[in-house]
Amino acid sequence: MDDRQLLKIRKNLGFIGNSPALEQILRTIEQVAATNIIVLINGESGTGKELVANAIHALSSRNNGPFVVVNAGAIPEGIMDSELFGHEKGSFTGAVGQRKGYFELAEGGTIFLDEIGEMPLETQVRLLRVLENREILRVGGSTSKSIDVRIIAATNRDLLGEVREGRFREDLYYRLNAVNIHVPSLRERKQDIPLLINHFAESFCEQNRIEYAGFSEDAIDLMVHYDWPGNIRELKNFVESIIVMERGMHIGSSAVQNRLPAPSHFRFDPQLPIHVQRSSEELEREFLYRALFEIKHEIAQLREAVLGKYLMPNRRLMPGFSVDKNNIEQYPANIEKIEDETEDVFPTMQQMEQELIYRALEKTGGNKRKAAILLEISERTLYRKIKEYDLPF
Ligand SMILES: Nc1ncnc2c1ncn2[C@@H]1O[C@H](COP(=O)(O)OP(=O)(O)OP(=O)(O)O)[C@@H](O)[C@H]1O
Ligand SMILES: [Mg+2]
Repeated sequence: MDDRQLLKIRKNLGFIGNSPALEQILRTIEQVAATNIIVLINGESGTGKELVANAIHALSSRNNGPFVVVNAGAIPEGIMDSELFGHEKGSFTGAVGQRKGYFELAEGGTIFLDEIGEMPLETQVRLLRVLENREILRVGGSTSKSIDVRIIAATNRDLLGEVREGRFREDLYYRLNAVNIHVPSLRERKQDIPLLINHFAESFCEQNRIEYAGFSEDAIDLMVHYDWPGNIRELKNFVESIIVMERGMHIGSSAVQNRLPAPSHFRFDPQLPIHVQRSSEELEREFLYRALFEIKHEIAQLREAVLGKYLMPNRRLMPGFSVDKNNIEQYPANIEKIEDETEDVFPTMQQMEQELIYRALEKTGGNKRKAAILLEISERTLYRKIKEYDLPF
C-alpha cells in the first residue's frame, strides 16, 4: 500500500496520527479487510479498538451490510445467549415471541463482539460452535441456520491470562486470534498527541461554533508528557472540556497544568447540558451558576457524610469525603444551619450514584475495570450504569 492510499484510509475512516504504530495498524486493516478472516483486537480502554473494527468493515466488500456492535460486558449474563443467537417462542419464561439474535441481524455484514473477555463460559461454548460451523441455533430451537457474518472481537483484557485463569476457553481463544491487531496506548505513541489535540479542538469548535485560538506550545508539551490512562477518549474529553472552560481563548500551560493529571477540582454536573452557542455574558453566568451548584452540592455531600449516612458497611467513601465518625467535633457545630440552606439541592440516590460513577471513571481516566474495582461493583453493572446515565466514557 502506498502513502497516498494510507492517507486516504486515514482521512475517510477518521484515523488521526502519523506514528509508525498507527501506520502498521492501517496496513493490517487494509490487508484483512478484503478477507473474511476473524480478527481479534486488543488494547487498553479508549485506544480506538472500535474505530479499527469499523474501518475493517468499511473497507470490506460487506460495507453495504450491517455493522452490529455487541458489548458482551453490557448484556446481563442470563440473556446473553438469546441476545446473541436469538430464541424461539416459549424457550424460557418471558420469551413470548421468537426473536432474532445479533448474529442474524448482522447477516451479510460484520458483527463486532466487544469486551469478549466478559463473555460467560457457557456462551463461549456456543460461540465456538458458531465459528466452527458458521451456523447458529436459536435458544430453544431445534434446527440450525447458516449465517454469513464476519466476526471481529475486541478486548482490553489479557485474554491469554484469562485462559490461564480458566475464565476464557483456550480453543475459542485460538479461533478468535487468527489475526491479532494490538492497538497501543497513547503513551506508547506520543507523537500522535499534538495531531489529535488539534483535530479534536478544531472539530469540536466547528461543531459548536466556537472561535478557537489554539494551544500554546508549552501547553501541548504538557499534554504530550501526560500519561493518558484513558487514552484517546480521555484526551478528547480533556480537549473539549478545556475549550469550554477557557471559552475559546488561547490556552496556555497554566490552564492545562491546573487540570492535569486529575481534573477533578472543578467540573460540571453531567446532568446539566452545556450550551456553548451563547453570548459570553450568558456563558459567564452559566459557569458561575455551575460553580455555585457544585459548591452547594458538595456541602450537601459533606453534610451527608458528617451525619454518617455515607457510612455504609464495607463501602468506600467518595474521595475527599472520608469522615472519622469518632471525631465529628471537627466539623462546624451549626450543622443544622447547613442542612437548612442546602435542602433545595439535596441529591437523590440516583444523582449520587451517577456522581460516584462519574468520579470513579474520572479518577481512573475512563478505565472501566479499575473504576469497577474502586466502586466495588462488577464491570457489567458499571457498563449498564454508564449507559443508563449516558456518561461520556
Ligand atoms: N486514531 C484516532 N484518531 C482519531 N480519533 C480516534 C482515534 N482512535 C480513537 N479515536 C476516538 O477515540 C474514541 C475512543 O475510541 P474507541 O471507542 O474506538 O476506543 P475503544 O478502544 O473501543 O475503547 P473502549 O475499550 O473503552 O471501548 C472515539 O471517539 C474514537 O473515535
Ligand atoms: Mg470499545
